[in-house]
Amino acid sequence: MTPLVLREIAELRAVVAGWKAAGDVVGVVPTMGALHEGHLSLVRAAQADCQRVIVTIFVNPKQFNNLEDLSKYPRTEMADRAVLAPLGVDVVFVPAPTEIYPHGFSTKVSVKGVSGPLEGAHRPGHFDGVATVVAKLFGITQADRGYFGQKDWQQLQVVRRMAADLNLAVTVIGCETIREADGLAMSSRNARLTADARTKAPALYAAMQTAATAIRGGMAISKAMKAARAEVLAAGFEEVEYIELRSAAMLERVSRLEAPARMLAAARIGGVRMIDNIAV
Ligand code: PAJ
Repeated sequence: MTPLVLREIAELRAVVAGWKAAGDVVGVVPTMGALHEGHLSLVRAAQADCQRVIVTIFVNPKQFNNLEDLSKYPRTEMADRAVLAPLGVDVVFVPAPTEIYPHGFSTKVSVKGVSGPLEGAHRPGHFDGVATVVAKLFGITQADRGYFGQKDWQQLQVVRRMAADLNLAVTVIGCETIREADGLAMSSRNARLTADARTKAPALYAAMQTAATAIRGGMAISKAMKAARAEVLAAGFEEVEYIELRSAAMLERVSRLEAPARMLAAARIGGVRMIDNIAV
């Protein structure tokens, strides 16, 4: 079944109103396109829970803190529609930037605390852009359930906090990170890796797993993180922006493994910025 492709908010609202009148549960999978198996796993999770599924494709200018990054972001609508077609998605919503941010648009959703460290510190304004567009997509789609990947763990926590704080009638679902056979987390950025960088890139996840095992076995967190950083650099990454253990939901610093914790990292290889995270 070819999904209905809609570009206007009013059209989408009319379709969703019909579904809601019939009592259907509506799921939304927000994306920026360049779809891969990670995205498709969210679509499948949504389809398992919901009668109706909307995939949104919108390269959100407000979450890019770098104009070059925004202009280089892949835009592959036809290919994305082709991979969605066999899945039986109901609607693909592909708004233009002016549909989402019309003249006079003045609101910013800013989530304090959880947005601050890690990605927030390295990409100023990024999570304001994410929270703003996701709040809008929840409002536009009126979805009962929203599906997000754990791959972007901090984003998932920001979205959860935003939805709770604004009393949005949406349940936020976090889905597991889908990886290549060698452990590399799937990402649209992986396509930018040279063949050489691609063979080295799984070292990030490998170093994180080694560190997680060491911490669970009693190694001091600071020592394990230092070793992991050295391992990632030795494997050929040119820079480790951060590799840290944090509390899972609030992303606060932890000095001992007590409650559920998350190890999160960002590192550059071949000029490509990679992020990953795992439970500890
Ligand atoms: P994008 O990077 O396109 O990702 C869309 C969704 O797919 C996010 O929830 C992301 O966490 C999830 N995802 C990406 N790679 C994944 C993987 N390997 N395994 C599982 N899930 C994965 O994240 C965004 O877009 C944007 O910030 C968005 C939420 C759409 C707001 O603009």
